[in-house]
Amino acid sequence: MSVARIARENKRQLGQFMTPRITAAAIVNSLNIAEDDTILEPSFGEGAFIFEIVSALAQRLGKQRAQEWAQTKLFGCEVDPRAFAAFSNQWERLCLGPLPSSFECCDFLKWLPPGCDKGAAINRKKYVSSHLEFFDLVIGNPPFGGSIDRAIQDDLDDILGFRDGMKIKKETYAFFITKSLDLLKLGGRLCFICSDTLLTIPTMRGLRNWLHGNCDVRISEVPESQFVDSKQDMLLVTLTKHNRKAPYVTVFDHHTRIEDIEATENLSWRVNGEYARYFTGQTLGDKMVASSGMTIGNNALFLRHISDGIIEEPYDFSFGREQITLQREIMRARLGKIAPARRKRIEELERLGETQRVVVWTPREAPAIVAIPHEDYRYYNKATPQIIYSEPAWAIFWRDEGDYVYTFKKTGNWYLHGVGGKPYFGREGLTWALIAPRLRTRYLPAGYILDSGAPCAFLRPGVEHDELLFIMGWTLTDLCTRILKNVINHTRNIQSKDFERIPYPAWMSSQARADAIGCVKQLLGAARHGQVFDFNSPEVVALNGFYAYIAPGISPHKQRAQHDGTALRLPLW
Ligand SMILES: C[S@@+](CC[C@H](N)C(=O)[O-])C[C@H]1O[C@@H](n2cnc3c(N)ncnc32)[C@H](O)[C@@H]1O
Repeated sequence: MSVARIARENKRQLGQFMTPRITAAAIVNSLNIAEDDTILEPSFGEGAFIFEIVSALAQRLGKQRAQEWAQTKLFGCEVDPRAFAAFSNQWERLCLGPLPSSFECCDFLKWLPPGCDKGAAINRKKYVSSHLEFFDLVIGNPPFGGSIDRAIQDDLDDILGFRDGMKIKKETYAFFITKSLDLLKLGGRLCFICSDTLLTIPTMRGLRNWLHGNCDVRISEVPESQFVDSKQDMLLVTLTKHNRKAPYVTVFDHHTRIEDIEATENLSWRVNGEYARYFTGQTLGDKMVASSGMTIGNNALFLRHISDGIIEEPYDFSFGREQITLQREIMRARLGKIAPARRKRIEELERLGETQRVVVWTPREAPAIVAIPHEDYRYYNKATPQIIYSEPAWAIFWRDEGDYVYTFKKTGNWYLHGVGGKPYFGREGLTWALIAPRLRTRYLPAGYILDSGAPCAFLRPGVEHDELLFIMGWTLTDLCTRILKNVINHTRNIQSKDFERIPYPAWMSSQARADAIGCVKQLLGAARHGQVFDFNSPEVVALNGFYAYIAPGISPHKQRAQHDGTALRLPLW
């Protein structure tokens, strides 16, 4: 690896991008820091916030008093020795006196303030009985997507990973916020630059729940935002700790009521009056169960592109046997850890010279030409940009009901041995591209093996078949996309759970529903006969009219009139 690449990888692992001084200054100046405040910067990098705080106080109190204050009231952690050295050099250059011992080159997640037993940071029992509430202000720009020391991940999860009955995701910014709040006095403030995924992403649901359950929450733009080395959209989160639920969350100057937030399944902070009305209770998850698919581990080994009904198979597959060894099992285990009982079992198997079945693949002299469908292959559902329908483009080697792929997954060099979506393999449903700016829904015929890049949804038992097409039509509308992207998850990933959280269009009359289903049937029929649609196709645009929101109390007659105005004209075949 080149030096530049190693440096980039280091920065990524540390979630390291420094706040411009002008941004830090604008934030510090908005906070009215007082002389008796005790302040923490938990990952101060090269010290943008620290220097701005000292400078703000020096302007008010004079340099000497600001320096004295910093010696006893200002605390900081930074794990990267290089950044710490840059910080302490700058401290010296600015003649701010001896570097306070309250600035430590250490891991914040292992650190606790004075008066606490340091070991309590990774010991749940000691942590909860420690007097943690020490700071009036915690400020900074914590690492986003950084790595957490493997050796303490499980201990930290035990301490920080569950609050007010919900999971806090094991992610650096989530853990930094959670721990920082623990360290705040009642009435204290936390002010962090943070990834904007905090607003809606389902994995941060538990964090949002805990924050608005215990703090006043204010989300605002990052002032003077001039980050050069981050592509992530950022926001400023300001929390005031009260240990009680606030009536609303303030998001970009808009008060969002907690009851509207709680009407959304992901506890979205982006719901507002406009969107709250769609969240009346029924969701697509009531009609369909959505699932991710599997990651094969080695696509080139098992996946073949179908061209004119033909694939080329370069390998002969067979099974062989391989020695079981503890060393190999440790390599494959999560965090390299194996439970003592399992370890003992493996050691015993190794001692006995036991073997396990593994897949062997031998390159053929010339690839075999195979016409699809074929009993050794199944269609494979990979993401495509197409909507409504696409012809099968991939086949997976699936001899003996997938025995080769499953065995390869079980014995490969990773710990993700589970097969995502297995119970749904072969079922008829809907599918879409996981990474896309909007739901690109298409019909999934029966018979496919599922890929993780294209999540799928299947009718729940007892739900009538027409719901599949009704829901497909709904998910192709602009309104559905707006709800999904504004309220449910505004990132580019559209996970199975996001789909289940979309409101069901319960506002439609039975006639409007029947019209919509008729229209989607025609669309699907045309697509299966080779017509290609996109979101600009008039027939797809017209779906917006069919599914338009009708406030309760509007007569079916008026609904009809609305839909007639957007009737579809599709070719007959
Ligand atoms: C996004 S940067 C921000 C740095 C600084 N707060 C600023 O605003 O310029 C995050 C910093 O967190 C540091 N960091 C990452 N993991 C840490 C940990 N576990 N404890 C303390 N610092 C950490 C990184 O080295 C990096 O300097």
